[in-house]
Amino acid sequence: MNILITGAAGFIGSTIADKLLINEDNKIFALDNFDDYYPKEIKEKNIQSAILKSNYKFFEGDITDEAFLEEIFKNNKIEKVIHLAAKAGVRPSISNPLGYVKANIEGTIKLLEVMKKYEVKKMVFASSSSVYGNMDKEPFSEDMDVSKPQSPYAATKLACEQFLYNYSQLYNIKIVALRLFTVYGPRQRPDLAINKFVRLMEKDETIPLYGDGSTKRNYTYIDDIVEGFISALNYNKTDFEIINIGGKNVVTLNEMVDELEYAMSKKAKRQYLEMQPGDVYKTVCSLDKAKRILNYEPKVTFKEGIKNFVQWYKTNKI
Ligand SMILES: NC(=O)c1ccc[n+]([C@@H]2O[C@H](COP(=O)([O-])OP(=O)(O)OC[C@H]3O[C@@H](n4cnc5c(N)ncnc54)[C@H](O)[C@@H]3O)[C@@H](O)[C@H]2O)c1
Repeated sequence: MNILITGAAGFIGSTIADKLLINEDNKIFALDNFDDYYPKEIKEKNIQSAILKSNYKFFEGDITDEAFLEEIFKNNKIEKVIHLAAKAGVRPSISNPLGYVKANIEGTIKLLEVMKKYEVKKMVFASSSSVYGNMDKEPFSEDMDVSKPQSPYAATKLACEQFLYNYSQLYNIKIVALRLFTVYGPRQRPDLAINKFVRLMEKDETIPLYGDGSTKRNYTYIDDIVEGFISALNYNKTDFEIINIGGKNVVTLNEMVDELEYAMSKKAKRQYLEMQPGDVYKTVCSLDKAKRILNYEPKVTFKEGIKNFVQWYKTNKI
């Protein structure tokens, strides 16, 4: 199977690529523009083993560049697309909404246009739990009203879901949009809380906790996310689905830091600060649909996942 992965040098993309490369029948076409949100060095390290494989080909470029996309699709028989390339931070989207519109919405539409032209009939897209905004009810299920995103980032993901539905109907492309719930594990982005806190705790520096520590997240371990993507890639019963992919545990911010303290055998210096604009109070995932449609079942507990991350961090930090 010839699979194009966009955002392939990032945290999730590089991990999915490594897993798909194990099957030598897969040919992976990977693209990334090394967006400067975090250092290129980290992304190069993410792909260092993949680029040695004969069934992996990397293209450096931007999904908003039509000529670049055209070259890839013209010269390679792409059969399926895993679309992860995006500006991914929530808070920075507030100061740079247009940058997010360009990369996330315009980039997605340009990719869909080239898929339409070259008759590529399958895409799995990385949407986000942030589309739910601040919900009163929990758990969050796919049929809830998502008309109140709390950040430009969330609004771009919501817009993408709508364009994806549109293209699936107009051009007969089978699309699954996975709403990912806070992903963590080896290679996690350095801006995300767990990675950031471990780095600060290692240096005995204070960790900033926004709110009173009671905000909660359904953390999802990277290996469970990879399983979700692979199941969605093989799913072909319906034209369009939006499916939550969450983890085994819902954990408060305070509990998350407790777990880091345990894994690092070290006390954290906690500083409680005002909630940040754009942040939501909780993300609690309903997995009913993922179980029913994708046979998805998260396997890694938060305790195990944090232990794995801390171990990875010690030998891989840059
Ligand atoms: N990590 C999470 O908790 C999480 C949660 C929900 C959704 N997501 C989504 O999953 C996807 C992957 O997230 P991640 O955590 O691996 O982030 P990441 O930043 O590590 O990966 C995204 C990659 O996309 C690349 N990219 C950005 N703009 C691009 C462009 N215009 N053209 C080509 N490449 C571009 C970046 O260089 C980066 O390597 C994103 O779409 C993100 O919004 C992530």
